Amino acid sequence: MKVLITGATGFIGKRLSERLVQERHEVICTGRLLSKLDKLLNRVKAVYLDIEDPAALRDILSKEKPEILFHCAALVNSSSLNALMRINRDGTRNVFDACAKEGIGRVVYLSSIAVISGNPQVPLTDGLPYSATNRYGESKIAAERIALAYRKKGLKISIIRPVMVYGEHEPHLLGLLSRLIKWRLLPVVGLGDNKLQLVCVDNVVDVMMLALGRDEAYDGTYIVADKEALTIREFFKFIAKTQGAKPPFTIPEKLASFFEPIPFIGNRLSFFKKDRMYSIERIKERLGYVPKISVYDGLKKAVLSYEKNV
Ligand SMILES: NC(=O)c1ccc[n+]([C@@H]2O[C@H](COP(=O)([O-])OP(=O)(O)OC[C@H]3O[C@@H](n4cnc5c(N)ncnc54)[C@H](OP(=O)(O)O)[C@@H]3O)[C@@H](O)[C@H]2O)c1
Repeated sequence: MKVLITGATGFIGKRLSERLVQERHEVICTGRLLSKLDKLLNRVKAVYLDIEDPAALRDILSKEKPEILFHCAALVNSSSLNALMRINRDGTRNVFDACAKEGIGRVVYLSSIAVISGNPQVPLTDGLPYSATNRYGESKIAAERIALAYRKKGLKISIIRPVMVYGEHEPHLLGLLSRLIKWRLLPVVGLGDNKLQLVCVDNVVDVMMLALGRDEAYDGTYIVADKEALTIREFFKFIAKTQGAKPPFTIPEKLASFFEPIPFIGNRLSFFKKDRMYSIERIKERLGYVPKISVYDGLKKAVLSYEKNV
């Protein structure tokens, strides 16, 4: 099948591109920093594409006519509402608009759990109302609303909502977190019994591959997460042990406020203060999703990828 990927130079897009190549699809990888494709460069067609440029989008789609487009391009680590809205909302509108105009049959869109993570329920389920906790989440809500509007107009869009994704060389969080835990700079606060459910990038890619052949993927929205949740204490201990480091130290909850002003560490401590659990019943029932990689196997590989720097 001929497929085109936006954001193929990013963490998830690149992993997806590798899988599609392995499974012998004809793959067009797009992004801005194409050198990030490394070894994939000889195995795919690589094309520069800025999703802020609607004419370039139409041009590439009319030339290539992919049967399916995977939209993975986004701004993930930014606090600039202006930049987030320009890329995540307006760029996504450009992608859907070009797909509608060029008659692209199917689009798989990577949304995010951030569109509902402001809801207090545990676990979070797909049916909850939009509620963000930060600007990134607001930009992803705006993009999902656009996806739903295009779906109403007849464009087949699959909306996948990954929870926090980890994997080898994950660039946003795990590398630094692993080092802080190894150097014993990040404590477990109190009992550390809040639950954390993540998703391995290979499980996310499995779901995107399911969308190639399942009509049900183009209806509803789908949270994707691993099957297991760890407590924060288990998570920190596992990362420390994987690196051969001493177990993390613990501080009483009342001391946590001393750490809060420290850059990165303060934010992380607040992040770990609530239960982050998700229901994957809908995606299991409707798409037949089976999380193949366990959090223990996936996390071990991911943490070791920074250690070995491979
Ligand atoms: N990582 C997570 O934990 C997570 C969780 C839930 C949802 N998601 C969603 O999954 C998707 C992929 O995330 P990721 O972690 O792979 O992000 P990433 O590693 O930061 O990759 C982002 C990709 O977007 C591309 N991009 C950014 N601005 C662009 C623009 N104006 N035009 C074209 N391409 C642009 C980047 O390309 P260049 O570098 O070449 O410019 C890069 O390929 C995003 O939609 C994100 O919201 C991620």
